[in-house]
Amino acid sequence: MVRAVGNAGNSEENGETENRAASENGSLRESKVKRKIERPRGTRDFLPDEMEKRRAVERIMREIAESYGYREVCTPTFEHLELFTIKSGEGIIEEIYAFKDKSNRNLALRPELTAPVMRLFVNECSVMPRPLRFYYFANCFRYERPQKGRYREFWQFGVELIGSDKPMADAEVIGLAYRILKELGIDFELHIGHVGILRKLLSNLEPELSLKIFRLIDKEQLDELERLMRGRGLDVLYAKISELISTKGDAGVIEKVREILDSSVNEDLDYLKEVCTLLDSYGVEYVVDMSIVRGLDYYTGIVFEAYAESLGAQKQVCGGGSYRLSHLFGGEDVPSTGFAIGFDRVMEVCRVSPSRKLKVAVVDANCSREAVRLAEMLRDRVKAAVIVDVMGRNLKKQLSHCSDADFAVIVGRKELEGGYYTLKDMRSGEQRKVGFEELVKILSS
Ligand code: HAM
Repeated sequence: MVRAVGNAGNSEENGETENRAASENGSLRESKVKRKIERPRGTRDFLPDEMEKRRAVERIMREIAESYGYREVCTPTFEHLELFTIKSGEGIIEEIYAFKDKSNRNLALRPELTAPVMRLFVNECSVMPRPLRFYYFANCFRYERPQKGRYREFWQFGVELIGSDKPMADAEVIGLAYRILKELGIDFELHIGHVGILRKLLSNLEPELSLKIFRLIDKEQLDELERLMRGRGLDVLYAKISELISTKGDAGVIEKVREILDSSVNEDLDYLKEVCTLLDSYGVEYVVDMSIVRGLDYYTGIVFEAYAESLGAQKQVCGGGSYRLSHLFGGEDVPSTGFAIGFDRVMEVCRVSPSRKLKVAVVDANCSREAVRLAEMLRDRVKAAVIVDVMGRNLKKQLSHCSDADFAVIVGRKELEGGYYTLKDMRSGEQRKVGFEELVKILSS
């Protein structure tokens, strides 16, 4: 049975409960006292200044991804619930917005885009020449307890490189994530591990127990991990795992791991070493960190996370790794690797200022038709935001209301009869008479 978690009416949801009660109460609709409708918990509104900055950051991310040959894909906001439970189990339903539509279909708002992109790959592109390099920028939804840096609706910028199981592929996506974060002026540390090694160590355990162990390592609940494993008589395995996950340092620590574990993981360690060597060529600085296991269940090999310490508890700005999912969605078993950057967290710590667009106000004295015509001509010729009065204000009021513009172009009877426009520089207050071509030239310089 699928729970409609999106409608959970627990006590923390005061706003939502009240809203529901309000809409159920028909008489309230007619009430004279109108209550403000708040946005749902864990969601945000963005005003124009913030949106300009977000778009500027998005543009940088797109440009860098495209410079590595990645091309944009777009998938639906909601998918069949099964897409997300097939690998992670029904437990994940607690953490996502799952619901039934009017035809009783089990659907979910996407909590991430790796599974949707792999579904798209199986459905639409499985015969295309590989590798495929896809990127996306989209909103995701998770039913988590909101806090600073953790939202119920948030945005991810991510890539998936489909079709290669070679170190070059992992190194490329890590190099790309690193370049994006650097370009945005973020102070971060990149940690790289190999989850396949831990999977091998746990391969003889019951899947449920090994999943528990993964979760505890991911959440750094190490006391609980010790209690669980020792309680099951897994002391020797615990000692190995404990030593493994405390291994951190430069690429040299890979040899130390070799000493702790037996030869069954040699190939994985060689792979990790090769990725590190390639990352040196990309100029990427990293910490080898064998405690990285990632919260999502589909990773099979290299895994990595980037942390911006200044963000506090929710400091992970990027996460990714290699995985195999396509065979679960009815396609062949194709190796893939990718990452997603938490766009909203990046916005908190990046150093990007959007370039300001020139603002021109066409101000009219009872000549609104001529003002509209001029504004349209300017929009054709000049890279600027051109605004006209829509409030029916007189000339003086229009001028005082456009004090944030760079220029005002006055169109009045006098100007129309004289065949010129009056251009006012709003910073200096200086005014001059100009013809249309001269106006275009000034506004373009
Ligand atoms: P993830 O680590 O679950 O990985 O999410 C990627 C990033 O999204 C996180 O590092 C974090 O910055 C951001 N994020 C996650 N949850 C929230 C939230 N509730 N509010 C704000 N930001 C959040 C994935 O989603 C994988 N699909 C990444 C991947 C792509 N692996 C391979 N390819």
